[in-house]
Amino acid sequence: MIKERLFTPGPVPLPPQVIKALGQQIIHHRTPEFTNIFLQTREKLQKLLNTNRDVLMFASSGTGAMEASIVNFFNEGDKVLVINAGKFGERWRDLGNTFGLDVIDYQIEWGKTYDKEKINEIVEKNPDIKGILVQHSETSTTTLHDLSFLAKISNSLEDCLLVVDGITSVGVYKVYPEEIGIDILITGSQKALMLPPGLSILYYSEKAEKRLEKSKLPKYYFSVKAESKKQAKGQTAYTPAINLIIALNESLQLILDEGLENLEKRHFILGEMIRQAMKELGLKLLSESPSNSATGVFTPEGIDADKFRKDLLKIGVRVAGGQDHLKGKIIRIAHMGYFDYLDMIEVISAIEMALYKNGYKVELGKGVKKAQEIYLNNS
Ligand SMILES: Cc1ncc(COP(=O)(O)O)c(C=O)c1O
Repeated sequence: MIKERLFTPGPVPLPPQVIKALGQQIIHHRTPEFTNIFLQTREKLQKLLNTNRDVLMFASSGTGAMEASIVNFFNEGDKVLVINAGKFGERWRDLGNTFGLDVIDYQIEWGKTYDKEKINEIVEKNPDIKGILVQHSETSTTTLHDLSFLAKISNSLEDCLLVVDGITSVGVYKVYPEEIGIDILITGSQKALMLPPGLSILYYSEKAEKRLEKSKLPKYYFSVKAESKKQAKGQTAYTPAINLIIALNESLQLILDEGLENLEKRHFILGEMIRQAMKELGLKLLSESPSNSATGVFTPEGIDADKFRKDLLKIGVRVAGGQDHLKGKIIRIAHMGYFDYLDMIEVISAIEMALYKNGYKVELGKGVKKAQEIYLNNS
């Protein structure tokens, strides 16, 4: 028997408290019992984001909240700058095009982050930009984009919203939208919030709220105005993902009990353990600006990454592969959410064994030792 250990950047493993909550009999949502849980969960989301403003929950995957960010706060023809540095940057662009926005598609080589000079140049030529759309953590390339510079730029423009996809950064980093200057922040359940897929979350600022009246794009299910009224009272416009919300109440408690400082530090150490171990084994990292949610690593010349993933699975570790032109070239290892230090030792050890089996010259234990040192030096 071989156990399958999940190290994919979504979905990620579930804590026992979440599994227990999910295993309960369903309750009805139009009841005081559910309203009570809903309001508790909403308050915990506000604590997670350090805000008193609306934090809405939609029964959808993360892309639903991305769509809600477009259709509620923009109009046809609005000029937006998309920081397109990977698969999910492409999604901002495609959504913008779908709803008739005027998209400036700033394409960045996969694995890299944006160039400040280039952004200054674009903004100088386009002072009428109404939105900057970015992934905080671009999962396809495991890259972190700094938000503070973009917030400064957005603020310097007359009427611009900074729209942030925090799907693999909320729950990994302290993402406080009001401190950073984010106008719309979205996330999803199946990443660092440690739940199955099916819930998306959306925060919007006071500045963004002013756009709600002006936005004429078609919307029905993803109406922020309709949900906002209902959710403040502990209800939703449509049937909510009842059990996922009950489970979110549990996973948020775990996060708040750990504390955001500790959570951020743990994710940094987990990321460092993997990154330094991979380098120690002579492997090249994909990202020049790595995110602490997941790590993309090139397999050595001559070892197809998708075959390598199958070898890892035989040892008991499931990792993700590369997308588009990175298919067969990289593996992506998750370390967000319900992971601890020994989980990293497992995956590094499995990678060493799979490299060895593929005839790669590897000193067994070298990466593991490096990761142990990182842990000991940082905890
Ligand atoms: C950064 C990022 N944005 C958007 C998405 C899309 O989310 P979903 O698949 O939940 O719709 C993902 C999913 O992996 C993601 O990692």
